[in-house]
Amino acid sequence: MDLEPSEKEQVSYKAIVFDLDGVITKTALVHAAAWKEMFDEYLMKRAARDGEPFKEFTHKNDYLPYVDGKPRYKGVQSFLESRNVYISFGDKDDSADTETVCGLGNRKNIKFREVLQTKGVEEYPSTITLIKKLLANGVKVGVASSSKNCQFVLQSAGIENLFATRVDGVVSAELGLKGKPEADIFVVAAKNLGCTTDQSIVVEDAVSGVQAGRNGSFGLVIGIARENNEEELQQNGADVVINDFAGIDMSTIEKWFSERNQ
Ligand code: BG6
Ligand code: MG
Repeated sequence: MDLEPSEKEQVSYKAIVFDLDGVITKTALVHAAAWKEMFDEYLMKRAARDGEPFKEFTHKNDYLPYVDGKPRYKGVQSFLESRNVYISFGDKDDSADTETVCGLGNRKNIKFREVLQTKGVEEYPSTITLIKKLLANGVKVGVASSSKNCQFVLQSAGIENLFATRVDGVVSAELGLKGKPEADIFVVAAKNLGCTTDQSIVVEDAVSGVQAGRNGSFGLVIGIARENNEEELQQNGADVVINDFAGIDMSTIEKWFSERNQ
């Protein structure tokens, strides 16, 4: 419900653009588990076939730096490159058993969707509470996610109507936008909300995402460290790092924003 103008909290930021997985919904771990299962199966197959030693895909050394926050096929490429594995890109319609970047990405997507369909989607209550406050006080709110499952995830959680703009993996493909760590999807989201990047805030849990916020010269980049990775987020572009929005209100954010933009 909108507040009367006199009741509204006055803040100098005009918009906040939230990442989805790990910020709004608890789906980052579902992505991470599906990636691990797919990559470990693939690495084991290569070990048996080509005699390469098997080195498992780990959350800290592989998922967080190479895959988290990036568009699906970019994540596959970044991780494989880090292991000096080069396979052809293939085509987005490649079946899940094709040994291409797209085939591997599609295989992971099947695993991801299976889990969502059986277990559903949980949100972070503290993020949703903040978003509702922002909206009631006239601050614009958008979502910018690399994921092509973004709309499905929002619908499953019943929160699609909270976002005035959604710039996700599907929209990026249609518009030819570059994925995180490039700033494109955050910049387009701010523009869709009628705001400049310096009037807007980015909220991200991934290293590639805070890099995108920094690359887009946003007024403030808030990092959410769900993974004990405060330092990585700070070093890569977060102006402030918190563990969750519990206990953080609009005025705390105003303080960070005005300090950052004095
Ligand atoms: C990001 C996740 O939000 O979306 C990544 O952090 C995921 O783990 C990426 O790989 C792409 O998602 P999707 O759903 O299009 O494969
Ligand atoms: Mg994320």
